[in-house]
Amino acid sequence: MRHVAAMAAVAAVLLAACSKQEPATEPLVVPEPTAAAEPALDPVTGFKMTGDWELVRGNCTACHSAKLITQQRGTAQQWLTMIRWMQKKQNLWVFDPETESRIITYLADNYPPSDAQRRAAIPPDLMPPNPYSSEN
Ligand code: HEC
Repeated sequence: MRHVAAMAAVAAVLLAACSKQEPATEPLVVPEPTAAAEPALDPVTGFKMTGDWELVRGNCTACHSAKLITQQRGTAQQWLTMIRWMQKKQNLWVFDPETESRIITYLADNYPPSDAQRRAAIPPDLMPPNPYSSEN
């Protein structure tokens, strides 16, 4: 019987402790974002959904996965070089200048060079002769 009484006392103390808890009156402190929020990713292509991403989706995913693009990094000049290479070798169509500059702006803004990614391509004049090339 004393055991039950002791349990009841403990329960009473616990209940009292719970009910004494003050409701939070302080406003929740939300830390200031330190950097601009990253744009959301398109669930289908993985493109950052910002700026002209739909233009890029429309022009750049017909032949290969968008992953080939999102895993790549480059300056505007490097993106232009990749586009010129595809136009020369892979049947990529020619863009009107405005479309091309919007595509490159999106790519260079959202997938700029970073140390953790590939190095820049070696300039052709520093490359050894390609024994398989039909152009040499
Ligand atoms: C007409 C077809 C076609 C279109 C459209 C196309 N590409 Fe490509 N692209 C290719 C082919 C083919 C490859 C080589 C794929 C491979 O190596 O497996 C390639 C490769 C790439 C690569 C990888 C290059 C590397 O060095 O590994 C990138 C990045 C790329 N494309 C970006 C783009 C972008 C950006 C666009 C839109 C402006 C685009 N592609 C549109 C055909 C295309």
